[in-house]
Formats: sequence, structure tokens, C-alpha cells
Amino acid sequence: MSDPGTIQLDVHLSQTDAGAALRSDVTRGLAASPKELPPKWFYDARGSELFEQITALPEYYPFRTERALLTDSVDDVARASGADTVVELGSGSSTKTRLLLDAFTRAGTLRRYVPQDVSESALRGAIDELHRDYPHLDVHGVVGDFTRDLDRLPGAEPGGKRMIAFLGGTIGNLLPGPRHDFLLHVRSVLQPGEQLLLGTGLATDPAVMVPAYDDAAGVTAEFNRNVLHVLNRELHADFDVDAFQHVAVWDADNSWIEMRLRATRDMRVRVADLDLGVDFTAGEELATEVSAKFTTDVLDDVTAAAGFTTTRRWVDPDRRFALTLLTAA
Ligand code: AVJ
Repeated sequence: MSDPGTIQLDVHLSQTDAGAALRSDVTRGLAASPKELPPKWFYDARGSELFEQITALPEYYPFRTERALLTDSVDDVARASGADTVVELGSGSSTKTRLLLDAFTRAGTLRRYVPQDVSESALRGAIDELHRDYPHLDVHGVVGDFTRDLDRLPGAEPGGKRMIAFLGGTIGNLLPGPRHDFLLHVRSVLQPGEQLLLGTGLATDPAVMVPAYDDAAGVTAEFNRNVLHVLNRELHADFDVDAFQHVAVWDADNSWIEMRLRATRDMRVRVADLDLGVDFTAGEELATEVSAKFTTDVLDDVTAAAGFTTTRRWVDPDRRFALTLLTAA
């Protein structure tokens, strides 16, 4: 491989799209009973910074467990896959990206890396860095929302095969309906034989899982409340952010951690840009995120229901996290 790699960036998500999506999510979510907001709105600059801090917390085991698991298994993943194109959903220039690129390079199959992210600026930075460090690799970034914009991903090279990596356990943030739609969407953009590498949290002891979402330093609480700062800024709302308490509970029936914001007093919140008044009673909870934890049987069922077969799976020694290589049937 001696040809210099090319770089390309496709932008599919406009600011107006994001603004309209926020307004419709907030209008719907604050009218629902119980009230809810989708977790995607956590991630403004401050929210992304807080998530970075979460990944370094002693209680937040998912991040470092997946990283260790990937470190140990990535050469097996690359050999089992044989893909020439690695697509990464919600990605950047992270350690996990480099683990994948290095292993697929060692396996001798890698030609192209396709990072996809909602943040154009994050993607631009990542592409420049990766082009410098992997000069022979074609890097083709795609700005977009992984739940909607996958049909804009570049197709397979002639005779080639793509592997879409969706790491971090982020699929756990989707409720069962949207999760099934997402997996069907991924399946629909793949040709038979192409692959999905899925990182998922596994159900384990609640005494381990709950503190990961309710850390002693209060970083996750800040992260959770940050969504109210986003609404205050983007929609000219007047949430008294400090009047909301962070709540994280394990819901055994649904096998997920649920994060909520609990109003500590009666209040009326005004959302000026939506011309909306919303009442909270003391103790009322606003649902902000679920983080599903799977069993391997459930994982096989939900992925099979979307047209995938399980090719291989790697699990850490404590059985807290799984990487599953799925093949489009
Ligand atoms: C975005 C899936 C990696 O659900 O564990 C971390 C988000 N929320 N702490 C997760 C999150 C609260 C996180 N992922």
C-alpha cells in the first residue's frame, strides 16, 4: 500500500435541521406523561466535556471495560472481519478508533475509514489528525445523525466489504422500538455478508451498575442537569437548574438504568421559543436517559430480529461488556 490516502467530508446535517428536531423533541417530551427528553440533547460542548470526565470516573466502568476488551480482542476482530472499510458511528480520533485502525492495518485488509458524527467540527479535527497519522488510508467523513442518515454512507468498494462499528454501549440509550428501527436501518444499508461490530453493556450487579450512573463526585448529575442548560440557552427556557435533583435507578423489568431529573419544588417553567408554559410538582420526575444492559441471549434475539447473525462475541472476564461481530444475513 503506497498510494497516498485521500480525504473527503460530506455534510448532511444542517443547523436548521437540528433546531427543528430540538423544538419538536421538547414540545413532545414536555407534554408527555411522565415528562421526558431524549438523551441526544445532553451533548453540547459542555455536555461532551462532562461525558469525557465521566469516562475517567472510578465508578464508570463501561468505558474502560470496553477499551480493555477491545485492546485484547481487536486483532481477532480484524481477522474475523476482513473488512477493507471500517465505518465508525459517533466517532472521532479516540483511542478506540486507533485500536481498530491499527489492527485492521496489521490484518492487511484496511483501505478506508469512514467516521460518522453529528459534530462537523469534531469530524474535521479527527480527519486531519488521522490523515496525518495514517497517510495511506482513505478517510471519508460523514456528518449526520446515526438514527437517520446512514443511507448517505459511502457504498462498498468493488469486491470490498464494510464493517460498521457502533461502540460505547450507545445502542443502550435507544428504547426498544427505536433500537429495532435503528438495527433495521443499519441492516438496510449493508449488503449480505457485510458486518456490524456492536459494543454493549451486559447486565451485572446493580451495586456496580448504579454507581456508574450516580458517581460520588456528582459529574453524572451535572451531565444530566446539563440538558436543562441546553434548553435554557437554545430555546430561551427558564429552568432553575439547581432545583432539579439527579436520579439514577436500575429497572430490572426493562433491564436498563434510567436517569431522571426530579423537581425539588412546585414550579412553572417557561419555554419562550415554543411559547410554552410547563408545570412541575414537587417530586415530579423528568426522564432523560435509559442505558440498557443486555444478556447475550437478548442481544442475539434483538439483532436476529433485524436480520443479523452473530459471527463472534468477545466478553470481558467480569462479564460486564460485550463486543459482538454481526453479519448481515
Ligand atoms: C453514551 C452510552 C456511552 O449510557 O453509559 C454515561 C452515556 N450517561 N453516563 C452510557 C452516559 C450517563 C453512556 N453512553
